[in-house]
Amino acid sequence: MDILIGLQWGDEGKGKIIDLISRDYDIIARFNGGANAGHSIYHKDKRITLKLLPSGIFYPHIKNIIGTAVVIDPVALKAEIQQVQTITSDSDLIDRILVSQKAHLVLPTYKYWDMYYEDSPQYRTIGTTKNGIAPTYSNKILRQNIRVGDILSKDFETDVFHILNQQYAELEALGQDMPEIQELYTNFLEGCYFLKKLQITDTEIIINEALRENKKVLAEGAQATLLDIDHGTYPYVTSSNTIASAACVGLGVSPKLIDKIYGVTKAYCTRVGNGIFPTEITGSLADELREKGGEFGSNTKRPRRVGWLDLPALKYAVMINGVTDLVLTKADILNGMNEVPICTAYEINGETKTLAAVTFVDNAPRPIWKFLAGWDTPLNKINQTTQVPKELKLFISFLEEELNIPVKYLSTGPQREELIILGN
Ligand code: IMP
Repeated sequence: MDILIGLQWGDEGKGKIIDLISRDYDIIARFNGGANAGHSIYHKDKRITLKLLPSGIFYPHIKNIIGTAVVIDPVALKAEIQQVQTITSDSDLIDRILVSQKAHLVLPTYKYWDMYYEDSPQYRTIGTTKNGIAPTYSNKILRQNIRVGDILSKDFETDVFHILNQQYAELEALGQDMPEIQELYTNFLEGCYFLKKLQITDTEIIINEALRENKKVLAEGAQATLLDIDHGTYPYVTSSNTIASAACVGLGVSPKLIDKIYGVTKAYCTRVGNGIFPTEITGSLADELREKGGEFGSNTKRPRRVGWLDLPALKYAVMINGVTDLVLTKADILNGMNEVPICTAYEINGETKTLAAVTFVDNAPRPIWKFLAGWDTPLNKINQTTQVPKELKLFISFLEEELNIPVKYLSTGPQREELIILGN
């Protein structure tokens, strides 16, 4: 099984890369997160943002698995599938979506808990996507959740009714603005009944059997390394494990069966939500980069914070994930700059570090910069390695030397075909 993960704070362009390399796979499987993800891909010149569906969905030969550690909002999944159905003539679409029966359901009240925690002065404001992700994972650990397989139980409606009523009363007592409970209940049940049309199954057995038959499986990560609940910039992280090893847990696959690990990085950095960001830039330079890169949340539309490439954090992400193949995206956005800044080390409490996980704000690092020559060639016009401008080649070699892994793919624009295989 191969794994593809993001190496920064998300939004590295994973969707496009998976969509492109998917054609070589039999199964694409999501292993973490939920509808907080927003993987943008182009289908027939239309931009589509996938939240819960794996990015192989437009290839008729691919089975798309939503694995056990994904948290599923049935209302969001139904809406997403119906949207995809309007743009594809693929009548087998529904049959190609398999859902782990052990995956946990995002109850409609969980979004309101997310809002409550975000807005209440007693709690930290994380800047979440307000999709109910943290409440779902917390209730998983508390062992209070309803799972996908429970939809098939005869007591399902009654159980949902009781939990919703109880949570609704708690939220109301806390003063949280709520819609009518009946509306939440009905929409949720409709979403769950729609889910029943998909294959609700033991996805870990399907994946392991496929691997035994030498079929190719790609595990698709959501969010990214620096948002990992354990290894990211806690507490400003998501509530799941986002790193490569989480694919094994989330899908039920032995670490012995992992082959390639693709790590995707932008040529600069972005982050949405709060939290430490050592190479962040602000002001007109940031506005320009944000506009040029279209750096607005694909899910929440929030403007993304922007900054330059952060090598100590990238080295850390490469190490934690064991990346074998690097994918570089959005180098085209830096086109036309005289010099491209890269943070090569941090100074933390008088010490220089070239590899670090920054998470404690008291130790806020001071970036040490290197400036590489910029390039000025419209990259979407090129499709061969020999046409890559020499300054960008130097930028790539610099990354390869520092990270000690090859850059396998260079994305040169948002469209599927705008990509060069560097052939290292
Ligand atoms: P949550 O995952 O909605 O709880 O949000 C927690 C943090 O992760 C916030 O800073 C979000 O902006 C961030 N986040 C969650 N999903 C994504 C994503 O797919 N891309 C980028 N940031 C994300």
